[in-house]
Amino acid sequence: MYKSKANCLFGNKSLINYSNNISGMKIPFLILIGLLLTSCSKKEVSSLMINSPDKKIQVHFDITNTKPVYSVTFEGKKIINGSKLGLEFKHQEPLTGNFEVTEVVRNTVDKKWEQVWGEKKEVRNHYNEALIRLKEKSGNKRKLNIVFRVFDDGLGFSYEIPKQDTLDSLYITNEVTEFGLSDNYTTWFIPANYESYEALYQNKLASEVESANTPITFESADKSVFVSIHEANLTDYAGMTLKKQPGSDLNFEADLVPWPDGVKVKTKTPMSTPWRTIQISNSAEKLIESTLILNLNEPNKLKDVSWVKPCKYIGVWWGMHLGVHTWTLGEQHGATTKRMKEYIDFASENNIDAVLAEGWSTGWEKWGKPKAFDFVTPYEDFDLKEIVAHAKKKDVKIMGHHETGGDAQYYDQQIKEAFELYKSMGINYLKTGYAGPIQPSKQYHHGQYMVNHYRKVVETAARYRLNVNAHEPIKPTGIRRTYPNMMSREGARGMEWNGWSEGNPPEHHTILPFTRILAGPLDYTPGIFDLLYKNAGKRVKWNNLDKGNSGINTTLSKQLALYVVFYSPLQMASDLIKNYKDQPAFQFIRDVPVDWENTKVLNAQIGDYVTIVRKDINSDDWYLGAITDENERELNVKLDFLDHKKEFIAERYKDTKDSHWKNNPYPLQILKQKVSYNDTLSIKLAAGGGQAIRFKAVQ
Ligand code: NOJ
Ligand code: CA
Repeated sequence: MYKSKANCLFGNKSLINYSNNISGMKIPFLILIGLLLTSCSKKEVSSLMINSPDKKIQVHFDITNTKPVYSVTFEGKKIINGSKLGLEFKHQEPLTGNFEVTEVVRNTVDKKWEQVWGEKKEVRNHYNEALIRLKEKSGNKRKLNIVFRVFDDGLGFSYEIPKQDTLDSLYITNEVTEFGLSDNYTTWFIPANYESYEALYQNKLASEVESANTPITFESADKSVFVSIHEANLTDYAGMTLKKQPGSDLNFEADLVPWPDGVKVKTKTPMSTPWRTIQISNSAEKLIESTLILNLNEPNKLKDVSWVKPCKYIGVWWGMHLGVHTWTLGEQHGATTKRMKEYIDFASENNIDAVLAEGWSTGWEKWGKPKAFDFVTPYEDFDLKEIVAHAKKKDVKIMGHHETGGDAQYYDQQIKEAFELYKSMGINYLKTGYAGPIQPSKQYHHGQYMVNHYRKVVETAARYRLNVNAHEPIKPTGIRRTYPNMMSREGARGMEWNGWSEGNPPEHHTILPFTRILAGPLDYTPGIFDLLYKNAGKRVKWNNLDKGNSGINTTLSKQLALYVVFYSPLQMASDLIKNYKDQPAFQFIRDVPVDWENTKVLNAQIGDYVTIVRKDINSDDWYLGAITDENERELNVKLDFLDHKKEFIAERYKDTKDSHWKNNPYPLQILKQKVSYNDTLSIKLAAGGGQAIRFKAVQ
């Protein structure tokens, strides 16, 4: 697997192994060993460096007092100080020290690959790798490998425990991975939580952060260093949170989400951990453009992807969050045959691909009780066959919905039957939900049991040609590369919170692209037009979180800009369809694509503003989204990303001088102007505002 381009020499064993790697070259290498042995035998080499291809990132690996330690520099600045590595177990001594290096195998990869769908079509996978084989010097002489891959946009490292006589079944009780920050960076984070990512981000100095979910993002005071810590390819392992080491200001360590008995990971050798990732750049813009997480995942495993298609959708959804419809059967029931047909007709007339129905199957009245949800029996006013037939006639897709209430065990028992039903109906989009405590009891949403459950759903869904949109999910770690039917997910404080809590403040949207969305697509569900609920009707308080919120906390044009800024291959137009009728601004939602050939970030300040442009995969058009926090601002944007040989009509959806997120969110101006690549646009954003632009290529 590891074909070396060059080998770092760690004593004589590595030399012999290396010589064996290259068949037919043994004799010259044995001579070389002879020559080098003299210089290596006296002074045992115990450190090595792995550079990024552009040499700006350097990872230093050391054995210090027999313990493995790594550190990271970027553009000559220390980012991560010497930090510990290792694993601890229930019935085994820890694998944290008493090590010697037996071999280092280096490798360089530089390959391009294409996404089935994504922020950009082509991705370059370019890294330098070192596989470091460690062995205990005494006792059982157990083995542990650590693999580093260093890219221009950051690094990943993973532990591998090879198969060995003295290590078979393993109960990992702690991962000793440390991230010792070198500086007291400004930090954006949500506190560690084993159950939910639906919190508002906090902005503190790293020294004030006690724990965090990942991604957690750091910025140096002079804004020359941006770092985000997360993980890639979270497979058959517990999710990682970070906690501050007791008594330390800047040292975080991995804190894995436990099983009910306190064990973190139950596994067997050979095994490897997810990649611990550190994205690094000298600008906030480049952080968003990073492809590190995807590159650290396995290639697409699905052979036929003809059914894997990004889509725009509407749904019977917001009415329930507003409290004007119900999931349960009754007078205000949302998902009725009649309403579904209206939604399907609207979708078909407005370039929307699919319609979601929540509250279509029985069980919602048993919310909170065990085995509540039924995934195959529609409510009596929801005629599944008739709805599907109508949708087919109108060339609109249905997005099915499975709310489990957290009862993964019960869902597991029914999954085949439930997926079979959708398959027989030709349904190939599925939204899932886990809103409630997990069953089996005392399992956490983000522990190994659920990581495996979520994956099983994705793999099973692939066999039934279902594209998945998971709510209350495990965080994204790039699995979409391997299973492109794992399209989008929540895992953030989304639009729904505006229905019943104090809402999401304007700043929230300017943090998500630099934190949660670095990990992967977000089903935020933008597109509310009735921003102050003037048109909602009588609302009913339906949960204890309800703070009687009275608005969305953005201007109307910011809602449009979110379709470009928040990346997702599934984008919902989330308002009641009556609120889109006769709205000129809805044209942007009709037009905006959900699959892109390329993405560029034009300007960014975390928590303040960001402007992103994306090129449509099916045309020469580009789309721009610019958003701001609670402050109004003006951004000058060069259009040099546009095709130099073409002219464009910029269709701009802008705030007016009177727009304001709080009391005056509706004013929006639509302006059309001819532009080309050498123009600069001045983009004025109202407080809590945004701007959305379609650059339509003139044929
Ligand atoms: C929470 C999900 O995020 C939301 O989209 C859904 O409507 C409810 N659960 C009910 O399933
Ligand atoms: Ca949710």
